Amino acid sequence: MNTSWQLLTEEIKNCDKCRLCERRTNTVPGEGNPNADIMFIGEGPGRDEDLQGRPFVGASGQLLDRMIHALGMERTEVYICNVVKCRPPGNRNPEPDEAEACKGYLRQQFVLVRPKIIVLLGKVAMRYVLQEEAPISRMRGSWVVRKGVWFMPTYHPSALLRDSSLKRDAWEDFKAVKQKLEEIKNDSGT
Ligand code: URA
Repeated sequence: MNTSWQLLTEEIKNCDKCRLCERRTNTVPGEGNPNADIMFIGEGPGRDEDLQGRPFVGASGQLLDRMIHALGMERTEVYICNVVKCRPPGNRNPEPDEAEACKGYLRQQFVLVRPKIIVLLGKVAMRYVLQEEAPISRMRGSWVVRKGVWFMPTYHPSALLRDSSLKRDAWEDFKAVKQKLEEIKNDSGT
């Protein structure tokens, strides 16, 4: 880990900017390839993530891993993080002020990784990152381009675990991500 990442991880570890710090076991900054082309953003750590200090390691993380694998990629090739870095009690959605308090960390992660594509996992990530209030069922599968970065909103893996009929659409979204990355790489000659 280079100095910028170390400083950021340390800053998150000591963070007390919002009430979520009071009940956390561990902070969950994020992990993966610091130069990833693709960044996945979820909403916030759950119980397993809070215990291990790593994002998406519980049931929804296992599904996310399988989907990344099915694209022919490894989890270690992408970067995975969340809107908030501490577990909201009872896995509730993060409150707007909690997401706001954590925004600077997500921004720094974005600046350090410089991904070409960001996959927004679920409505909460879509709302806080794109300020988009429309239902995820309407937004999923459509690209949003901001400042040269491609955003793909899709269902959160936990929604797929609750309702497996959504998996087909999510899989289409993941395939679109893979295809877009190939296009971007071909266009830039890398
Ligand atoms: N759900 C999330 O949004 N993030 C995690 O890290 C785990 C579950």
